[in-house]
Amino acid sequence: MNVETKQFDNLEGASNSAAQYITEQCKKDIQQHGQFSIVLAGGSTPRTLYSLLASTSFVDQIDWSRIHLFWGDERCVSLDDPSSNYAMAHDALLSKVKIPTDNIHPMEASTSSPSDAAKGYENKLRSFFNSPHAVPSFDLVILGMGNDGHTASLFPGNASLNENDRLVIATENINASPQVPRITMTLPLLNQAKNVLFLISGKQKGQILQTIMDHPQKAQIQYPAARIKPKNQLIWFYSKK
Ligand code: 6PG
Repeated sequence: MNVETKQFDNLEGASNSAAQYITEQCKKDIQQHGQFSIVLAGGSTPRTLYSLLASTSFVDQIDWSRIHLFWGDERCVSLDDPSSNYAMAHDALLSKVKIPTDNIHPMEASTSSPSDAAKGYENKLRSFFNSPHAVPSFDLVILGMGNDGHTASLFPGNASLNENDRLVIATENINASPQVPRITMTLPLLNQAKNVLFLISGKQKGQILQTIMDHPQKAQIQYPAARIKPKNQLIWFYSKK
């Protein structure tokens, strides 16, 4: 695994560089195997990136008919709830690009049973990748990180970090806003990805990144984000503010 960190003075700069990286990876994968499977992050930081991908600077560089979009985690709310990760991506990106509906694979997490929703998404992934037994491998996973070092909905000290078999699980009693159950991809699935891109901003996250770089063993105990180890490349885009 090749690790690279890129630092920027502001989120616009970090997001622009991340958009360039995604566009390049997308072209390469479509050329190599005809499609580009990408997992989107939730939260607020990636909004600028998603808007850039839909902007005239990038939108025509991407063959949207060959992209398949997935989510790394979702809050257990309806997809049109403003707090849903799907809703943010729809507002910033999906509503602005010509991507076939069949290429968009949201986590239907609003059911009364988060664990059923998680199992349903895992089945959807296995079917899409025609991978009933092996762990599917995404071309690229985009992740954010919380100020506690969580990523996706994998939170410090949570049992979800020890999941070795299921690809998608429900997590509850987590210390994050909104206080709703979530479903999340697990480490075995996230780490089967070819490449992972983190997009983070702010001093506190910068300090966590520094700890991950300088003391990886210690960081893995404290920060779920430190356990992300894709097959090829792990690249951090860090904005100081
Ligand atoms: C979520 C995200 C989560 C997010 C971090 C960072 O559902 O909230 O998947 O992992 O990436 O909490 O969020 P911000 O980018 O808003 O700081």
